[in-house]
Amino acid sequence: MGKLFISEHPLMKHKITMLRDKNTSTKEFKELISEVAMLLTYEATRELPTVETTVQTPIAEAKCSKIKQDIVIVPILRAGLGMVDGVHNILPAAKVGHIGLYRDPETLTPVEYYCKVPKDLENTKVFVLDPMLATGKTAEAAVEFLKERGAKDVTVICVLAAPDGVKTVQSTFEDVDIYAAAYDTMLNEKGYIVPGLGDAGDRMFGTK
Ligand code: URA
Repeated sequence: MGKLFISEHPLMKHKITMLRDKNTSTKEFKELISEVAMLLTYEATRELPTVETTVQTPIAEAKCSKIKQDIVIVPILRAGLGMVDGVHNILPAAKVGHIGLYRDPETLTPVEYYCKVPKDLENTKVFVLDPMLATGKTAEAAVEFLKERGAKDVTVICVLAAPDGVKTVQSTFEDVDIYAAAYDTMLNEKGYIVPGLGDAGDRMFGTK
């Protein structure tokens, strides 16, 4: 089974508190999502394989290491877009794919409306960005799509995770890790995470 990482870092807890607060402005919300994404990426890249290399410092030759794999980040539209800048802050060379999926409000199942990802996913590390792992159906569909296109090493990064979402991803894929800033215990009848932070897309784009 893939790993489930939930951050215990005080900085992350503080930022999650601010994200949950309904009085947090759109501007702050967007900045916070980006910061949380950056901090989670730091954790999620901890075990990336490296290769040894040598560089010349101004003083002497230094034996160093650098990340071995190419990295692709795939935000799930639209809320995943808010995480891209934060991830790019520490992985500036990462390529960006996009997957457009929305949840059918009746069935809560994902419907694809846009997909464009880099070729040759086989030898890359792929990070799927989805701030709210609620039912997990959207993340599941995105990972499935990426695996169909050759991706072998996929990790899901989300801001909040709920048990249903974790179960969906872990039961469908035994090799996909999940990194989250916090874990909430339930969903409401509309599939929203409780207590959650509301509709992440609406809050970051000011559409409600
Ligand atoms: N998507 C959101 O934006 N919020 C939730 O709580 C669940 C899914």
